[in-house]
Amino acid sequence: MDIRVEGLTLHYGDAVAVRDLDLTVGHGESLVLLGESGCGKTSTMRCIAGLERPTAGRITIGGNVLFDSARGIDCPPHKRNIGMVFQSYAIWPHMTVFENVAFPLTMQRVNKAEINQRVHDTLELVGLEGFADRGASLLSGGQMQRVALARSLVMAPSVMLLDEPLSNLDARLRHRLRGDLRELQARLGLTTVYVTHDQEEALALADRIAMMQHGRIVQVGAPNDIYAKPLSASIADFLGVGNILPVERIDSTGVRVAKTAIALKVTPFAGAADLKACIRAEDIAVGDDVTDEMNVLEGQLLTKEFLGASAAYRVTLSGDAELTILGSKHRQLDAKIGDTVRVGIPVDAVQVLPQDAAAPAADEAA
Ligand SMILES: Nc1ncnc2c1ncn2[C@@H]1O[C@H](COP(=O)(O)OP(=O)(O)OP(=O)(O)O)[C@@H](O)[C@H]1O
Ligand SMILES: [Mg+2]
Repeated sequence: MDIRVEGLTLHYGDAVAVRDLDLTVGHGESLVLLGESGCGKTSTMRCIAGLERPTAGRITIGGNVLFDSARGIDCPPHKRNIGMVFQSYAIWPHMTVFENVAFPLTMQRVNKAEINQRVHDTLELVGLEGFADRGASLLSGGQMQRVALARSLVMAPSVMLLDEPLSNLDARLRHRLRGDLRELQARLGLTTVYVTHDQEEALALADRIAMMQHGRIVQVGAPNDIYAKPLSASIADFLGVGNILPVERIDSTGVRVAKTAIALKVTPFAGAADLKACIRAEDIAVGDDVTDEMNVLEGQLLTKEFLGASAAYRVTLSGDAELTILGSKHRQLDAKIGDTVRVGIPVDAVQVLPQDAAAPAADEAA
């Protein structure tokens, strides 16, 4: 079922956690809410779940109005049919896995045979078959989070809200579980809102990403689009663009890197006040990869890190500008720290963007 959030505003006393937020999640869509700590992600989720009473706005799921400040509608959380998984495991340690997952069904007085069937089906779904009788306190973090997921799924919710469900897990497990989650979400055609502040997780899990800053959505788009065309330097920064340089405008196809004599030719850009040149670390060439069509610069090699699949370099340019470059492991740069190296920045690799997006982007329909 689709989710529509319109004009959502949430005040905590004098503080505004969510401001006039509009968001649409299509039926069966996986939408990732991405943004830095404190931008209002959890607050938004809690409003959708009915755990927080919004100051204003309207929330609709599958055509049912769950909240409408203008009409005084506020459906209680347990009647919203929303599954939730949060960062803390929130499972009962004194119960078995089976009892944990069966709990919401028991509360609804579903008959025993049906509970048995649904719990076993759901445990199989999340890869916990064979764990039914295990005490919940005897599970690993990843298994506990699967129990929490199963307990939400067993209710056959119309939508799922997941708020940093993997952030307490170690990197490898997080990686594996997020793959499992994505597969499950797609297989069940579940409408989900997934909160994270990890850009890689967002890119991996989303059909669309909604970038949130200061209580509002500032950009919505498919992972590819948002990665390729961030609306502002602050969004680019959050998406891990690597090089955000203050620049001065020379003309609409040229900028000067601030405080240096370095001029860069760029693709045409619109004028704005506080401009930044945003350049992905992997788009910059070094050493033999530099060609004449690029902006060719020289700098001193400051650091060199071998990262397995890639190698990272930092190069200082004249003035105080510094570039981070991600090279391939197959073409390691043959230079020592302190050496002068040639750096090539392709013209189309430079995006000149305002520091912040002027106005929140209109929400695109799914
Ligand atoms: N119960 C509360 N009372 C007062 N202020 C709150 C309350 N809960 C959250 N806030 C404030 O509202 C803002 C948004 O908080 P929220 O928890 O939604 O952020 P978040 O995006 O989920 O951050 P994080 O990534 O750290 O979880 C923050 O400034 C926070 O301090
Ligand atoms: Mg949060």
